[in-house]
Amino acid sequence: MSLLSVQSLTAHYGDMQALYGVDFGIDAGQVAAVIGPNGAGKTTLMRAMLGAGARTAGRIEFAGQPILGLPPEAIAALGIAMVPEGRRLFASLSVEENLRMGESAGRKGVWTLARVFDLFPILKERRHRPATALSGGQQQMVAVGRALMTNPKILLCDELSLGLSPLVVEDIYALFPAILAEGMALVIVEQDVGRALKVATSVTCLMEGRVVLQGAPGDLSVDRIAQAYFGAAA
Ligand SMILES: Nc1ncnc2c1ncn2[C@@H]1O[C@H](COP(=O)(O)OP(=O)(O)OP(=O)(O)O)[C@@H](O)[C@H]1O
Ligand SMILES: [Mg+2]
Repeated sequence: MSLLSVQSLTAHYGDMQALYGVDFGIDAGQVAAVIGPNGAGKTTLMRAMLGAGARTAGRIEFAGQPILGLPPEAIAALGIAMVPEGRRLFASLSVEENLRMGESAGRKGVWTLARVFDLFPILKERRHRPATALSGGQQQMVAVGRALMTNPKILLCDELSLGLSPLVVEDIYALFPAILAEGMALVIVEQDVGRALKVATSVTCLMEGRVVLQGAPGDLSVDRIAQAYFGAAA
């Protein structure tokens, strides 16, 4: 039994179908990368696991329990959290207040404010500053820290590297081992396919709402991924 399993998931926005029978699964301590071109349905898939976004049908099980149709608060309480694309921090709140929002939304566990400050010392230094006064990379750290403070069993990260310099992206990815060591599972949406292949234990490539390729990175050649992205002519 997977920690999280998605079976035959479909998603609609009004009449527009965004996902067509997607299957996906992840276990504790794993990193599942979801890749695919713009509009492929990556964010829709992640938000469906959170009980948000499009109208969905099919089956999603978390630790053996069906969760499709549960309200987002119930799913968060079970232990699924997301670092949304674009960070979505509360502009009028300080760094510390933003982090504490995670604490009140989630479960108790190893990720406390002190622990997040250990992981990101710069946030401790700037804890009383408004979140929006921080650099993009530091704001991303707040977004990750806030999600960690809900003590999820699965953390969904939607394009963590968007708009960040390569060095900052390195810093953020360098945190993964510490997060995984706590037994958490990570689902990452990543534009940089090379980076995704490096950190992931499984890769799912979506294209126009369908899984076109799925497997362990070692079994997927760059050629096959390029083909999945660009069609057989590539
Ligand atoms: N709120 C919405 N209302 C209507 N259509 C939407 C909505 N959100 C997404 N879509 C459509 O659903 C499809 C999948 O979008 P989604 O955002 O899941 O793709 P994505 O793979 O995350 O793309 P990107 O790489 O650009 O973030 C696209 O055709 C998109 O236009
Ligand atoms: Mg997206």
